[in-house]
Amino acid sequence: MAFALSDERIKEFAEILSRYPNKMAACIPVLHLCQEANDNWVSDEVTEYVAEKLELSAAHVKGVATFYSLFNREKPGKHQVWVCRTLSCALRGSEGIISHCEKRLGIKMGDTTPDGKITLRTAECLAACGTAPAMQVNKEYHENLTPESVDAVLDKLLAD
Ligand code: FES
Repeated sequence: MAFALSDERIKEFAEILSRYPNKMAACIPVLHLCQEANDNWVSDEVTEYVAEKLELSAAHVKGVATFYSLFNREKPGKHQVWVCRTLSCALRGSEGIISHCEKRLGIKMGDTTPDGKITLRTAECLAACGTAPAMQVNKEYHENLTPESVDAVLDKLLAD
């Protein structure tokens, strides 16, 4: 079935457009809007829809969607977990946190748990260096991570 925004999201789309000098400049926020409306991923149908609405080529929109790691090109799990691996977090033990997550969930970075609940990924600096190591879960930050605090977060996600 072809992708289309709901009436409510069409209003959000119009509001986004009103904040930018031209349609091309609104490509990233419109992709975020459409991704959210499509179970958190940018399918080819979403790419074509955005291209049509913004009067851009599908190749241009696909280029944007594949460049930025926050756009998913495959349907992710219900919850997305990004563990930062950049310098401050690395110095404060992110490698151990990454291994802990993989072991706890029984998957590797980039994978989704078999029940479809959690997609695990690494991230570059999340701008929470002062409270490293950090991870982002959906739209929420978790900082000063320890294996115990990570377990508490993952347990909640798995129970959801
Ligand atoms: S290095 Fe991890 S938040 Fe900046």
